[in-house]
Amino acid sequence: MRINIWTIFPEFFEATLATSILGRAAAEGLVEYRVVDLRGYTHDRHRTVDDEPYGGGAGMVMKPEPFFEARDDLGPEGPVALLTPRGALFDHATAVRYSLAPELTLLCGHYKGVDERVAQVVATEELSIGNYVLSGGEPAALVVIDAVVRLLPGALGNHESAATDSFYEDLLAPPVYTRPAEYRGLQVPEVLRSGDHARIAQWRREQSERVTRWRRPDLWRAYRAAEHEENE
Ligand code: ADE
Repeated sequence: MRINIWTIFPEFFEATLATSILGRAAAEGLVEYRVVDLRGYTHDRHRTVDDEPYGGGAGMVMKPEPFFEARDDLGPEGPVALLTPRGALFDHATAVRYSLAPELTLLCGHYKGVDERVAQVVATEELSIGNYVLSGGEPAALVVIDAVVRLLPGALGNHESAATDSFYEDLLAPPVYTRPAEYRGLQVPEVLRSGDHARIAQWRREQSERVTRWRRPDLWRAYRAAEHEENE
């Protein structure tokens, strides 16, 4: 797949997209990242990308022209998501949907926001990664890219399988341990060392259900409702 990132800070992405799973996926040809500098679509000496808000108020607004011109020039296909705290909350289902698309374009906003006409015309959707305000869309874009790329077939090694992730089955993941079996008086649960795969699977499911129920009652309710439907 191809992932386009439109930003006024292209350097923000360099190290991260070359590192670990994101870097390996690109090296293996599973994904191509295209980082586009929006200042390349300005025409004045100062390469201006923002201006004062109509109606007054504090903060600057990102101008529509660079986004529209980038679209005219590059003609992105598939989802075009504007990262903004006003967007729909990004979740696992959205990551799966994006991972199935041949092309994904992420628009990074800044300052007080992006001219609304970009959201109306250039973007096909608006995304937020959580209920807090970042200083720009760039960190949010990296979060989305990471969640999407690790779902591409071949991006994870066997030992990194996505199938046991939290959210994969709508439950949080159970606790995990590695050697040593005892550390500073803290023991690894006996069941995990028993070699009894049926017992281990049952323990993991119980732990998943318990942690989900306590920590995320919203997910727990959804899980119980889905179970109920299945049994009808
Ligand atoms: N830009 C600023 N805050 C954001 C958030 N929470 N999610 C996505 N983009 C953002």
